[in-house]
Amino acid sequence: MPNNQIKTYQEYEEAYKRSVEDPEGFWSDIASTFTWRKKWNTTLEWNFEEPDIKWFKGGRLNITENCLDRHLKTRGNKLALIWEPNDPKERFVRYTYRELHEKVCQFANVLKKNGAKKGDRICIYMPMIPELAFAVLACARIGAIHSVVFAGFSAVAMADRINDAQCSMVLTSDGLNRGAKQIPVKRVVDEALERCYSVKKVIVVERLGWAVNMVEGRDVWYHDEVQGVSKDCPAEEMDSEDMLFILYTSGSTGKPKGVVHTCGGYMVYAQYSFSNVFQVQENDIYWCTADIGWITGHTYLLYGPLLAGSTSLMFEGVPSYPDMGRFWQVVDKFGVNIFYTAPTAIRSLMGGDIDDVLSYSLDSLKVLGSVGEPINEEAWHWYHTHVGKERCPLVDTWWQTETGGIMISSIANVTPIKPAHAAYPLPGIQPILVDAEGKEITENEVEGYLCMKFPWPGIIRTTYGDHERARLSYFSTYKGLYFTGDGAKRDKDGLYRIIGRVDDVINVSGHRFGTAEIEDAINHNEHVVESAVVGYPHDVKGQGIYAFVICKEVPEREDYLRAEIIETVVEKIGKIAKPDKIQIVSGLPKTRSGKIMRRILRKVAEGDTSNLGDTSTLLDPDVVDEIKAGAL
Ligand code: PRX
Repeated sequence: MPNNQIKTYQEYEEAYKRSVEDPEGFWSDIASTFTWRKKWNTTLEWNFEEPDIKWFKGGRLNITENCLDRHLKTRGNKLALIWEPNDPKERFVRYTYRELHEKVCQFANVLKKNGAKKGDRICIYMPMIPELAFAVLACARIGAIHSVVFAGFSAVAMADRINDAQCSMVLTSDGLNRGAKQIPVKRVVDEALERCYSVKKVIVVERLGWAVNMVEGRDVWYHDEVQGVSKDCPAEEMDSEDMLFILYTSGSTGKPKGVVHTCGGYMVYAQYSFSNVFQVQENDIYWCTADIGWITGHTYLLYGPLLAGSTSLMFEGVPSYPDMGRFWQVVDKFGVNIFYTAPTAIRSLMGGDIDDVLSYSLDSLKVLGSVGEPINEEAWHWYHTHVGKERCPLVDTWWQTETGGIMISSIANVTPIKPAHAAYPLPGIQPILVDAEGKEITENEVEGYLCMKFPWPGIIRTTYGDHERARLSYFSTYKGLYFTGDGAKRDKDGLYRIIGRVDDVINVSGHRFGTAEIEDAINHNEHVVESAVVGYPHDVKGQGIYAFVICKEVPEREDYLRAEIIETVVEKIGKIAKPDKIQIVSGLPKTRSGKIMRRILRKVAEGDTSNLGDTSTLLDPDVVDEIKAGAL
């Protein structure tokens, strides 16, 4: 393991202190443990006003040389990736570091053969198959910027992302397996590409063996292209601040934004946070259940583990197929030592039969992790007791697409753990809580808006094609601070507990959606005049989506209309953004200036209408009674 791992609480305190007093020295030492073609000139240049943040300026590197090549001498025959398919009857596949290096090089050569070059944006829309990992790393190998779009997004959502980044290529598959279902993937790509003019090539990996439409001159099969291609591909030399990838995520306004991460800083932060939080040891088998389509999959399935020379398990399936014991069966099958998943998965499994967990030994487990949303105490205890057998530290890791890596989290066996608390910041991370005016709250036992006052290497650099949007979204709310969009509490010992979003972003099963984005989709339905979407507490998903909808005419069959609205959302965004509840209303609670009072809608959605606060400023207070009466 790289020698930048903290082992004791005292070491944590020392590292933290140094990271604040001498951040450049601290990060420079960590960065020195990587392979650079040329060392950087300055460790950090920054201001949060523009924002302009540069880590390791002038440094030259390729992240895949650090993920792959540098391990070949000492870990060439060590497993880099284990792939477990959706169907337990299908054979799993394992790749050593040497084999993974070859696969990535071959994929990179296929990309080059098809015209891809440094700086191109490449959209990857693929299921969780090994080729997805090869594809991402192959882009990085040749200096192309990957934009992975989760394969559950719709054609429209994919097209928006392709057009925003002007991608020249799409990497995809014929179809995908999801539990008992098989889903056509290439068909979604074809539909998306009817709206995109920048894409010149589509490379299709065969997964299901389905006959798919192949457009002459545009679409090629990966298995044809890879024939006779060299297993070696020199890595493109990149500047530390060259873009590594774009990953789209939702904000409180407008369309999803393309969060940009760059090569050097992201690399350093991914490995440092991975090795430390989970206290990974050389022979550990590590499993992160996230899809590579999300930031967790980018940083903690792929880049972090490979940078650290670890063995990472990639799973194609779902926790409930063929039964609710699937996760635990996989843990036993491979002797997984570190397991990292989302609270929503835990909550859905809690609903199953306890024997689905208890019938597996889970003896190999040493560390458990949670990510993506607040973990409620009940889920925390279930996970800790039944999966971790009260023996494994359970780290609750708070971070965001924009932060690149884990920011606030217990460090397994090193720093304190408190159920449902993310606890302490990692070294190098300087969180503060501020009040509504942006004034720092310095005491403990307080609650406030969570901000960062100093940059870390994994911080977002810009939003693709629109730097002003990055400034407005993260750096303008509170002067001189990065604003996370989350509210948090700090207890008497200084441990943080994340409460959740304070903006119009909802977190459904750990996935982020802007309420405006869902409203926009709903409003595309021809019967809809206007809509307002809020989140409400949901037992399994964390938050559910509740939509209040005004229609042109009173519908004859509300159930038909609801089904149609759902279909519109599925078409515009994808199944993952389906509203759970749709209430047809004749009006929305608006102020005289036309602003929707979401506070009232949230209360109704939560089923708590006892105290709706002051409604006297509403344009039409009667509408509130109607909404209350019709609440679902
Ligand atoms: O609200 C926080 C929540 O997820 C948001 C970030 O979402 P995304 O960019 O999709 O990244 C998810 C995976 C890192 C945050 O603003 N969140 C994430 N982790 C936690 C969390 N909320 C509470 N506790 C967490 N551990």
